[in-house]
Amino acid sequence: LVAVLLLVYLISSNNFSSLGEGRVPPGPRPLPVLGNLLQIDLKRPYNTLLKLSKKYGSVFTVYLGPQKVVVLAGYETLKEALINYADEFGDRFEIPIIKEEQNGHGVLWSNGDSWRDMRPFALTNLRDFGMGKKACEDKIIEECGYLVEVFKGFKGEPFDTTQLMNYSVSNIICSIVYGSRFEYSDTKFRSMVDKTNRKVQLVGSPSIQMYNMFPWICQWVRNRSEITKINTFIKKENLAIFNHLKETLNPQLCRGLIDAFLVRKQSLEDSGITNSHFHDENLMVIIQNLFVAGTETTATTVRWGLLLMAKYPKIQDQVQEEIIRVIGSRQVQIEDRKSLPFTDAVIHETQRLANIVPMALPHRTSKDVTFQGFFIKKGTVVYPLLTSVLYDESEWEKPLSFHPAHFLDKDGKFVKRDAFMPFSAGRRICLGESLARMELFIFFTTLLQRFRFTPPPGVSEDELDLTPRVGFTLNPSPHKLCAVPLM
Ligand code: HEM
Repeated sequence: LVAVLLLVYLISSNNFSSLGEGRVPPGPRPLPVLGNLLQIDLKRPYNTLLKLSKKYGSVFTVYLGPQKVVVLAGYETLKEALINYADEFGDRFEIPIIKEEQNGHGVLWSNGDSWRDMRPFALTNLRDFGMGKKACEDKIIEECGYLVEVFKGFKGEPFDTTQLMNYSVSNIICSIVYGSRFEYSDTKFRSMVDKTNRKVQLVGSPSIQMYNMFPWICQWVRNRSEITKINTFIKKENLAIFNHLKETLNPQLCRGLIDAFLVRKQSLEDSGITNSHFHDENLMVIIQNLFVAGTETTATTVRWGLLLMAKYPKIQDQVQEEIIRVIGSRQVQIEDRKSLPFTDAVIHETQRLANIVPMALPHRTSKDVTFQGFFIKKGTVVYPLLTSVLYDESEWEKPLSFHPAHFLDKDGKFVKRDAFMPFSAGRRICLGESLARMELFIFFTTLLQRFRFTPPPGVSEDELDLTPRVGFTLNPSPHKLCAVPLM
């Protein structure tokens, strides 16, 4: 048994294949089959990896079970890898739980020609919304208006913002993808959003991580069947909307991304191209990708912002003073960002400290590469450790504190910081970055203009917990806040 385990370990860990081709990145000694699992906190793997980077340097190897992973840490190293070696480090590693569902389609987890066709298509449609940037801004403002009304309805009583934020942000994706929004009371819509978010949490759970490492052993883990059920539900609902849009399509009047996709598909077919990547399966996965990647991320970041404001009331005072002085009671516009340097710094600092996607998404090398003197074989899984950049001690004065001055100069002007990398960088940089930045600005500023955020009665600011909840993204732990109307 020992001999077999050792053989599996040697073959799966690629130890043989790298011999003779250069130094392999160092790392803790792995056990057969288990790799370094016993050393890794599966609930917060990014913390362990951060600690290991202090010991083994900015390029190191760990074994997650039999899976060899090269971890990249620190601003300089990530910048060099993701930008200067964009091609070599630019493929995606599709984790098993996703592979069985998406099979290389869509944008988030795809590679090769399909990704090269789908990414620009999705990007153009996100950016332009089919109608231009201003229309996108107007949609965000409109959606934020609905949210404000619902917040007002709580009359300053404590409530959990999670679902409402998710519905509101998800509605922006609905407008982009379907061309229409839903009422927050629509039960089908609520179900779709709630289930999508449950899935995002489940995908990051320790049991699914175990499944991803040992799919052949851990087939029956509890959360896997729930993910499959959610996938089936979401697919069915999306298909119903898709079929309706297909039947009512008017190529002269694109309502959203689905219409644009169908029009492109038809025009390719009309020119005799029948084997393009513009097929229904790809479209269904893109839709899911945009909801998964574009809802919880933005909603969670806004929620971190509100929680931080309740925890640090003096910073909230400064934000509100600036908003009232510069904007007054009129509607905030994207244009206002440059006149609101403190508010902008608070939003950036929220994203930095919240660090919601701490390990980016797993990358994979597209070819053999020698990087910083280390040989990394083609097909190696790579984790760009974004935490190590957002908390890099050589880049940030107070990496572990909430310190908006990180983004301000001595005159209080906003300063861009290169090590601000919550959207990652390079070829696989977040596709929704510019949309997300617009959303964060409009939502955060409008909410702070209209409400004072405080802890519930009987809870002190100190008691508000900033420990993130475990999931695929880092969420605030469950909490309630009061949104006391200001106008
Ligand atoms: C990828 C962060 C919002 C769509 C990513 C990645 C990160 C990220 C870290 C992985 C990059 C890598 O692997 O190197 C965020 C954050 C957001 C946000 C912090 C909000 C605060 C959005 C939105 C959308 C979106 C609003 C779309 C509507 C995507 C897609 C990818 C991606 C499609 C995959 C890109 C590819 O593989 O080519 N995002 N994201 N994201 N994001 Fe976002």
